[in-house]
Amino acid sequence: MNHHTTTEQLAGTFVEYFEEREHRRIVGSTLLPPPGDPVLFTTSGMHPLTPYLEGRPHPLGRRLVNVQRCLRTTDLEEVGDATHLTVFEMLGTWSLGDYDGPRSLDWGYGLLTEGLGIDPGRLYATVEPTVEDNWWSNGPVGPCGPDSEIFLWSGDGPPESTPTRDDRWVEVWNHVTMTHRRLDDGSLVPLPQRNVDTGLGLERLASLLQGKPSVFECDVFDPWRSLVPALWPLDERSLRVVCDHLRSAVVVLGDGVRPANTGQGYVLRRLVRRMLTLLWRDDPSRSLGDLPDELVRHTLDHFRQDMDPGDVLPILCEEERRFRRLLERGRQVLARPRFRGPLTEEDFHYLHDTHGLPRELVTSLRQE
Ligand code: SER
Repeated sequence: MNHHTTTEQLAGTFVEYFEEREHRRIVGSTLLPPPGDPVLFTTSGMHPLTPYLEGRPHPLGRRLVNVQRCLRTTDLEEVGDATHLTVFEMLGTWSLGDYDGPRSLDWGYGLLTEGLGIDPGRLYATVEPTVEDNWWSNGPVGPCGPDSEIFLWSGDGPPESTPTRDDRWVEVWNHVTMTHRRLDDGSLVPLPQRNVDTGLGLERLASLLQGKPSVFECDVFDPWRSLVPALWPLDERSLRVVCDHLRSAVVVLGDGVRPANTGQGYVLRRLVRRMLTLLWRDDPSRSLGDLPDELVRHTLDHFRQDMDPGDVLPILCEEERRFRRLLERGRQVLARPRFRGPLTEEDFHYLHDTHGLPRELVTSLRQE
């Protein structure tokens, strides 16, 4: 296995491999899904392609490949482990009513083994013994279908057990045969064509190929790892979460979202607040104003975003000030005799509506 493959080289190898198999590269979209999509952010490479999976002809044809940035907050509690990031890149391929699942798996296997030199003995793929366990959907509604997940063994010794029983099996690539669409009422209708939609987690595979124990040690985090610990000494897990959330906040800002109390802006606000909560646990004087510009520039460059890097930190610092004020107010309000005992639903509503204190903030302040 080649231990020196950077994420960029890996993305290049992936795209070329599929271009050689007559796929056309499409430019990845921003994190903002197309209008009408049921989710706030693009969580998978297929989002921008939804209309084409549903039958509209794509201008570049029926075989596509791309690199798409994604944001997932469903696994937020897991961020900090070896494999979860909030913002990550997904390498994707699509057959829009062209070839079928087995061919896609065949090519996938070829790329992983011959193309990237992975020992086939370290791979594991799920097939469809039960549809419930092997079914992928984008959200409550939209295109979906049976999938086959490819796992790579990350342990030191020879592979053991199965992915459901041993988490040293890391899921790297999902091949979905998109056959159906789920409607608002929960029913499934066949799509006009059988598609294949695959997604490979770039940082996951890169870290495994680089022989690194977690996604936070692959090359995209190099500048973070060299600059952040010197600024803020943190335990390993907190360091990972702080770097992840900060980096994601920069990317979300770079895609044009601004902090707000609802929707996309609220996801951004929550990421920043979770990160500040960790940062302030040991030392409340820490400030985002100290963050080296280089980290902002590196992140915007990596995602080819054209926001002026100088505009990022002022927004983050304003969020920080706002959060400090809110915490201050929260502590004062919660010190009132009325809130000493257990809180009722009515209390939570009052604290939210009158004082702007979200439930999770109230809960964490009461644990201080
Ligand atoms: N849409 C599938 C997934 O996100 C494959 O790309 O796993």
